[in-house]
Amino acid sequence: MEQNIKFPVVDLSQLNGEERDQTMALINEACENWGFFELVNHGLPHDLMDKVEKMTKEHYKKSMEQKFNDMLKSKGLEKLDTEVEDVDWESTFYLRHLPQSNLNDIPDMSDEYRTTMKDFAKRLENLAEDLLDLLCENLGLEKGYLKKVFHGTKGPTFGTKVSNYPSCPKPEMIKGLRAHTDAGGLILLFQDDKVSGLQLLKDDDWVDVPPLNYSIVINLGDQLEVITNGRYKSVMHRVVTQKEGNRMSIASFYNPGSDAEISPASSLVGKETEYPSFVFDDYMKLYAGVKFQPKEPRFEAMKNASAVTGLNPTAAVETF
Ligand code: OGA
Ligand code: NI
Repeated sequence: MEQNIKFPVVDLSQLNGEERDQTMALINEACENWGFFELVNHGLPHDLMDKVEKMTKEHYKKSMEQKFNDMLKSKGLEKLDTEVEDVDWESTFYLRHLPQSNLNDIPDMSDEYRTTMKDFAKRLENLAEDLLDLLCENLGLEKGYLKKVFHGTKGPTFGTKVSNYPSCPKPEMIKGLRAHTDAGGLILLFQDDKVSGLQLLKDDDWVDVPPLNYSIVINLGDQLEVITNGRYKSVMHRVVTQKEGNRMSIASFYNPGSDAEISPASSLVGKETEYPSFVFDDYMKLYAGVKFQPKEPRFEAMKNASAVTGLNPTAAVETF
């Protein structure tokens, strides 16, 4: 496997100094060639990140581990004699922040964990909006363009998927999370700094996204591919399981609002575009049933709204 010698790491603090141009160029290069980059000096306090990690790991032990083990039993996954291709080896729960928070409806969270996650999410929301403007600058779009597109009538959708990928006795038999591209806009991931597992597909090779202390991994979803008319692309990624160690990952999805109208930005379209225009929620309805399939047929299906009505999402998975 190709190793991650050049995996793009962006020091956001350099945007304020002499290195600004190089940093903007590095972000652009990462968006064009990787669909992923890792941010350091992003402004999120390290003690807050420590607290989020500690509380998430405690919460897993207290409220999730037993459920995960019960799931293994009920699905007959304890032996793993043959390869499993329709289940993920992950334990997750979802928090929604925007347009309306559901934090108070999630069972088994202590008040302190709730408050900590609320603070963490607010800072990530601000970071996502700053990043969207950096993307606009690199794309020659006016400041605020992407935020405005994502706004729809109710503002963006912002949510967090809190995951743990427990150690797995036979990693070759099952993925932590099967390969997919993300449907939405910008994804901000706080991943375990010790246990690895996230990989992205680059030039037909699976490349590790290396754990890096206090970093936030950014990747781009299908909507940004459509809006940028393919100048930036969403990239396939997956999580592999590990024999040793429980991997924590907290993925926050900054997505368009449900009624946001998505289409390629006219300044990025030449004569014609191969990308569709649609309402974001219609895309999500389609995605729910075909998440683990390539994105190109999704884009094709969205070109014709009537094709979409004919599709029947099979899995009502909660996804952002
Ligand atoms: C996802 C995802 C990666 C991870 O939830 O879409 O890609 O490391 N997660 O959990
Ligand atoms: Ni993903």
